[in-house]
This record gives sequence, C-alpha cells and structure tokens, in this order.
Amino acid sequence: MAIRKLTEDILAVGVQDWDRRSFDEFMELPDGTSYNSFIVRGTEKTALIDTSDPDKYVEYFINLEDAGLTKLDYIVANHGEQDHSGLIPDVLERFPDAMVVTNAKCKGILLDHLQLSDDKFIVVGDNETLDLGGRTLQFILAPWVHWPDTMFTYVVEEKVLFTCDFLGSHLATTSLFVQDPARTLMDARRYFAEIMMPFSRMIPKYLARIREINPDIIAPSHGPAYNDPEFILDAYEKWVSGPPDRVVLIPYVSMHNSTKMMVDYLVDQLTGMGLDCIPMNLAKCDIGQFAVNLVESAAVVFATPTFLVGPHPFVLQAAIITGLLKPKTRVVGFMGSFGWGSKAMSILKDQLKMVKANFLEPVMAKGMPGDDTFNDLNEMARQILEGIGDPE
Ligand code: FEO
Repeated sequence: MAIRKLTEDILAVGVQDWDRRSFDEFMELPDGTSYNSFIVRGTEKTALIDTSDPDKYVEYFINLEDAGLTKLDYIVANHGEQDHSGLIPDVLERFPDAMVVTNAKCKGILLDHLQLSDDKFIVVGDNETLDLGGRTLQFILAPWVHWPDTMFTYVVEEKVLFTCDFLGSHLATTSLFVQDPARTLMDARRYFAEIMMPFSRMIPKYLARIREINPDIIAPSHGPAYNDPEFILDAYEKWVSGPPDRVVLIPYVSMHNSTKMMVDYLVDQLTGMGLDCIPMNLAKCDIGQFAVNLVESAAVVFATPTFLVGPHPFVLQAAIITGLLKPKTRVVGFMGSFGWGSKAMSILKDQLKMVKANFLEPVMAKGMPGDDTFNDLNEMARQILEGIGDPE
C-alpha cells in the first residue's frame, strides 16, 4: 500500500488488511479493515502515531522505509490494543532512541502486553503538549471509548485529530479520505454497534469536546479519514442520543415451525399498526448484522423454541450480545414454544439485566400456537406500540 499525504507534514503509513474477516475471533468484517498509522514531522522531532497489527510487520516496515523514516523521536500510543500497539517493540528495535508517549493507563497495558522496558515511556496527562518544532501534539484523554486507556492526539497547527478507535470503521480502502459516505457509514455503524455502543453514556462528552476543538480532519485508527468531520459526528450523535427508529427487531430460531408461526403473526400485527419489523432468522444470518440492527431498533422481541430446557443456543447468544452491547431499545419482549416444560424465557431475561428497557410478559405456546397464543400476541403488539410511543 503506497504511503500517502494526509497533510503537508503528516504521512499515512498504515496498512490495509483486505482479507481479514473477523475481529476478536467473533465479529465479522465484511469489508476487511485497516490499521492506520501516521508520521508527524516537525522541524526538530518526528513522531509516529500508533503502529500496526503484528501480522502486518512486513508491509508496515516497507511503508516506514518508503516514507524515508531514518530517525524517530516519539511513538505515540493512543491505545494499548495490539492491532495498534503490537509493532511498538519492533519499531523500538529499529529506532532504539525513540520514546513511547502515552498516558499512565496505557503505559500499564503496554507493560503487561508487550513487556516494554519501564524507562522507554514518557507519560502524558490530559491536554499536555509535546513540541516537535512548529508542530505541536496535544493529548486528550478519552477513557472508555472503548478501553480505559483511550487517548486522542491533536496536531494543533494542522487541525488534525487522531481519535484512535473512536469514530472508526472496519473498512479496507485505497481512499485516504471518505469517498463513498454511504459505504463508510455502513461500516462505521457496524463498528459503532460492536465496539462503541456499550459506551454510549460516555460518548456525548467526547463528541462535545471534538466539536469544541473543531478539527479540519479526523483520522481514526481504522477506516478512511474524515475531511468533513460533521458527517461522522452527526451520525454518532444520532446513534447515541437520537430517538430509536420505530422498528421492532425480532431475532428468532424455529425448529418445527411453532415459533416461526408466532413470529409471522406478530410481524403482521405490528406492521398493521404502522411499525416496521426486522425478523432475523439467527440460523441463517450474520450475528454482526443483528448487532447493527440493535443500534436504532426501538423494540427487540426474542423468539425461541425450547432446546432441551432452555432457549435455542443461537437465541441465547443474541441475548448475551444484547446484554453486552446495551442498546437504547425501549421495549424487550420474549416469545416461544415448548413441548413439555421450559426455562427458556427466564434464561434469556437473565442475560439482559444491563439493558434499561420495559420488559414485557413472555408469550409461550405449548406445541403449535392457537387462538390463546395469538390473543396474547395481540396484547404484546399493543404493549410494544405503547412502549415505543408516538413518533418524535
Ligand atoms: Fe482497534 Fe481497540 O483496537
């Protein structure tokens, strides 16, 4: 991947990972990803902002060579996770005089994960600056989007803000800046769903801080940079603080069609009431897309047959994910079927203790659903509509 100029004095030397298809051995990456890294040159000193994933050692060091990097003073670590920090030991081996610049929390993480030497660090606090000669790095601590060590770095004179994972997208692309906003938004939304949504409570204050800084360019550590930052700031504000869409997400599995009959009936009822529905057969869909759909759904109804005595494992997984991601859904419902006994509903509900929503009474059918079940589903549909409230 050719190195590229982000600005006159900032070079993008990161690596595209076109083939990566999962992150954390869990979330799907349909469009690959990138590990962004930048060289900032002042008249006196040179700094590297983050490094790359260790798997990309060869490409990364070719990029540093192509950038003509013969002297390095600082390696800024905005975050300790190895997809950005993993090559720091190798960079230090190549440039033994360089110092690692980071915050105290990240230093601890790097010591634990990379076993760096304690005397290789310069520890910085919120708003502290580092002069490169005509270029000033300002450090902004941003804990919990998404690790406790997260930090932004701002190049004051160039108005460029490096936001680490925050505002990023898993997208491999030759475009340095966003070229196709719709595509980037799709990947950024998936990224938000899987990584940032659990920290939604923390996000507004960082968005406000970024708006106050008013950078010309935002360059996250994954995906293309934003030379029109409004685009991604507006999207995050909507995902975090806006009202959810009037959509009912229905993750389900059906083994012998009883649960599917209930899903179809509920979808018909809700659609008739003017609500949109997304039934997702978890046996056939990408669980990452389920997470994406959680971002703006006003209600979620889990539907499962009884598998042994509990929920189907795929539905249980969806409930666990929902509990971890803590979406802004207003209403949560459960429905399903059983043959002779079931603890499916209580097991699902146990996974959702961290979700602040109105929990509806479960609807269960013994065998094939009949009139009683459909009447219960009518009542569930009414309560969903009431819980979602009027359009805002
Ligand atoms: Fe892209 Fe949290 O690392």
